[in-house]
Amino acid sequence: MTKLMLRALAGETLPVPPVWMMRQAGRYLPEYRATRAQAGDFLSLCYTPDLAAEVTLQPIRRYGFDAAILFADILLLPQALGPKLWFETGEGPRMETTTTPAQVAALRPAEAVHETLAPVYETLRILSRELPKETTLIGFAGAPWTVATYMIAGRGKDEQAGAHALKSQDRATFQALIDKITEATILYLSAQIEAGAEVVKLFDSWAGSLHGQDFTDFAVAPAARIIAALKVRHPQVPVIAFPREAGDGYIGFARTTGADCVAVDNSVTPEWAAENVQKDGCVQGNLAPHHLVTGGEDLIRETRRVVQAFRGGPHIFNLGHGITPDASPDNVARMIDAVRGG
Ligand code: CP3
Repeated sequence: MTKLMLRALAGETLPVPPVWMMRQAGRYLPEYRATRAQAGDFLSLCYTPDLAAEVTLQPIRRYGFDAAILFADILLLPQALGPKLWFETGEGPRMETTTTPAQVAALRPAEAVHETLAPVYETLRILSRELPKETTLIGFAGAPWTVATYMIAGRGKDEQAGAHALKSQDRATFQALIDKITEATILYLSAQIEAGAEVVKLFDSWAGSLHGQDFTDFAVAPAARIIAALKVRHPQVPVIAFPREAGDGYIGFARTTGADCVAVDNSVTPEWAAENVQKDGCVQGNLAPHHLVTGGEDLIRETRRVVQAFRGGPHIFNLGHGITPDASPDNVARMIDAVRGG
């Protein structure tokens, strides 16, 4: 029997949707915090295959999600291109910046990323041996625009200004950076598939700050290029695209990029996404993560509302963004019960 997640991605409308959560391996789980402490720091956890596989498996053991997402980070790829990466406690990621033509030219060749990223492929090999047979293994990468925003600003959060400035002031350098990330991402995701990923997801967390032609050039075009290249090498492997906060940009995104599924955040309603996005195929989403902090009747009602809104077509139940560290593990179990009809 084909896995539930793969059936939804193939376009099947199911009576009960498959369910998983962004950041399902994370700080809200005591077992994650223990393994992270054992690793010492976040990047060591990402680069130690046994421990990265262990934290990937923890939410599968505890909840029986239909999919496991590789434990890694979107910033490992730019790090593998050369710039230094570190995490400031309580503040998030920091990177050596890449903004000049000379710095873009000095990035390593795309093929060189495999050297740094080999432990990630090993994590996937362990997971494809150890996951329950009904669980789908998801690999991922950041989309080029989002990765570029971190490489240019050297940090995250509300820091897309640097990328917008470079795009206006030196389009050629900006485009060269996007092209380099795009090429490396194709190689990275292909290697993840060869190591056992059955689905891959492209996270474009900052797609919402691109508008008009920029959205077409830097959210749609790089995703279309990556997906086309993956489909040549691995035609059977479905791709999920997540152009977060794209708003009207979600409409037609599956058609223009070739994605098998579009993930939607919770700035749009599930009813709107069912009408405007699901008509092109599978949709993933989109419960607001704060319900897992607050729980109660609202959690059950909103979970059922998402399931109900999408029940006329292919759907993967997920959050609109990652689960937060203050979420309650019991609320996650309640959410899953509500999805599965409890
Ligand atoms: O979803 C999963 O469980 C898989 C693993 C995963 C992580 N990050 C682990 C992580 C995935 C898919 C990501 C993607 C990622 N990383 C994105 C895109 C999705 C999004 O959230 O918008 C982005 C923008 C990043 C970059 C990043 N990594 C930031 C901004 C931060 C700090 C924010 C925070 O929550 O602390 C991280 C750290 C990070 N990546 C953590 C985890 C579990 C927390 C690290 C910790 O344990 O201290």
